[in-house]
Amino acid sequence: MIDDLWYKNSVFYCLSVGTYMDANGDGIGDFKGLLRRLDYLQGLGITTIWLMPFQPSPGKDDGYDISDYYGVDPRYGTLGDFVEFTHGCRQRGIRVIIDLVVNHTSDAHKWFREARSSKESSYRDWYVWADKKPANAGKGMVFPGVQKSTWTYDKEARGWYFHRFYDFQPDLNTSNPHVQAEILKIMGFWIQAGVSGFRMDAVPFVIATKGPKVRTPVEQYDMLRSLREFLQWRQGNAIILGEANVLPKTDMEYFGKDGDRMHMMFNFHVNQHLFYALASADSRPLAKAMVETKPRPATAQWGHFLRNHDELDLGRLTKDQREVVFGAFGPEKTMQLYERGIRRRLAPMLGGDRRRLELAYSLLYTLPGTSVIRYGDEIGMGDNLDLPERNCARTPMQWSNEPHAGFTESDKPVLPVIDKGPYGYEHVNVAKQRRDPNSLLNWTERMIRMRKEVPEIGWGDFQVIATRDPAALVVRYDWRNNSVLFVHNFDDKPREVSFTVGLAGDEGKLLVNLLSEDHSEANDRGKHTLLLEAYGYRWYRVGGLDYLLKRSDIDTDAAGKASHPA
Ligand code: NOJ
Ligand code: CA
Repeated sequence: MIDDLWYKNSVFYCLSVGTYMDANGDGIGDFKGLLRRLDYLQGLGITTIWLMPFQPSPGKDDGYDISDYYGVDPRYGTLGDFVEFTHGCRQRGIRVIIDLVVNHTSDAHKWFREARSSKESSYRDWYVWADKKPANAGKGMVFPGVQKSTWTYDKEARGWYFHRFYDFQPDLNTSNPHVQAEILKIMGFWIQAGVSGFRMDAVPFVIATKGPKVRTPVEQYDMLRSLREFLQWRQGNAIILGEANVLPKTDMEYFGKDGDRMHMMFNFHVNQHLFYALASADSRPLAKAMVETKPRPATAQWGHFLRNHDELDLGRLTKDQREVVFGAFGPEKTMQLYERGIRRRLAPMLGGDRRRLELAYSLLYTLPGTSVIRYGDEIGMGDNLDLPERNCARTPMQWSNEPHAGFTESDKPVLPVIDKGPYGYEHVNVAKQRRDPNSLLNWTERMIRMRKEVPEIGWGDFQVIATRDPAALVVRYDWRNNSVLFVHNFDDKPREVSFTVGLAGDEGKLLVNLLSEDHSEANDRGKHTLLLEAYGYRWYRVGGLDYLLKRSDIDTDAAGKASHPA
């Protein structure tokens, strides 16, 4: 497999095995079922699967409460099935990354059971304890409104334990060298089982100082370097994709100034401003967020996304901006969550409007980084707001119009399949969309193909090109003497957009449309004027017909070359 910096020009697809495909008819998705769907995924064109937690777990936080790091939850299969799955992926040129959830364990984990059993236990110091209720127990909850405290008294332990998340997720004492060694061992284990890296859960909390006396937690960034170092010793091309919803000013701490910490990070900053742009038709704060998160080491990469398995967190917008997004996409209280976000899936948020869905995805695929999409979004799946918290957007994949969407033969699926309304499986399913050349599924496949053919996005340098119209976002990428340009109209009305392409020498060049025959020629002064339909978008290659010639003597096999952006 091509190795060097493969994550620079990739399309990630996130799924959870339990709701993807059930092979043995017990109602729970499993590795055998997933294995049968790999050809589908290969056809879609995704290059990397991000597999959500599948280890043994009481399942109180959808698997983010692990009770054994070295196994597979028997509901999903065996370790053997897992290795068959990674092998099946490798055969198809698909990589797998898995969640690394080491901020906390489940309270059912044997380490915690031992730790709580006695102060003398060698595992006691693997967790974070206090004799008295700490003064800040009512602060710092990640799930406000649902989670009451960050410290809970444990009768058996006769002490208070710290939990940044739910009370059944005691935090590991990550400054304990034994815990640190165990984290490396977990990584080494799964690398050996065939994965190409990790989506690291809750990174800022993993590396924060923890304890009853800690008032303001301090991030121990050096820990990130040791994780990466270990990983690279074990398998040079393995990566860590960090979940860290942080401010741009600390991005470099996470990537490492020398590119020696996280390989990838989710760009939450751009994500929130992107939803603001979709809601307000003002793209300026989004452009600003893109520029603010531009600095990164040459080998580092952003992971961009629209919706994920959690709520859409709007906590970093201003109050006014947040109100605009709530108003547009989650006006009802039942749609909102944790006092800061929206828990719906993308399609219902956008009113099922195909034009807006295309705009959102076209934008995602052209943001500076690697795109991460979520299972079901390729067919425009909906949500079920009757399910609690984030479960509303985690319902089973809709494969066909057979009972339970062809997900299972059981009458008791792990979560109910959406079977009512416009997003019910009879209307929205893979089988139906596969047959329809104009379906969202087939559109997504074409866009992914084109995204992979434009390595400038993943590798190049970008600039936002000035226009007078706040509803239009024009972004240009340059890499190895090739340039591409993308235009998006956020407005619900057609817009005439004018701009000059940018760098000297490019004036007068043709913009070759990559998705249709509708090319753009500049006027005498080098200006392009486009008429974009409501929510319209364009993908162009800068440079007229000679670009084909030019490209033929440049090796654009981006994934195979360890070269860096300019
Ligand atoms: C972040 C995950 O994305 C979320 O689903 C989970 O509940 C928390 N971390 C706790 O692990
Ligand atoms: Ca099953």
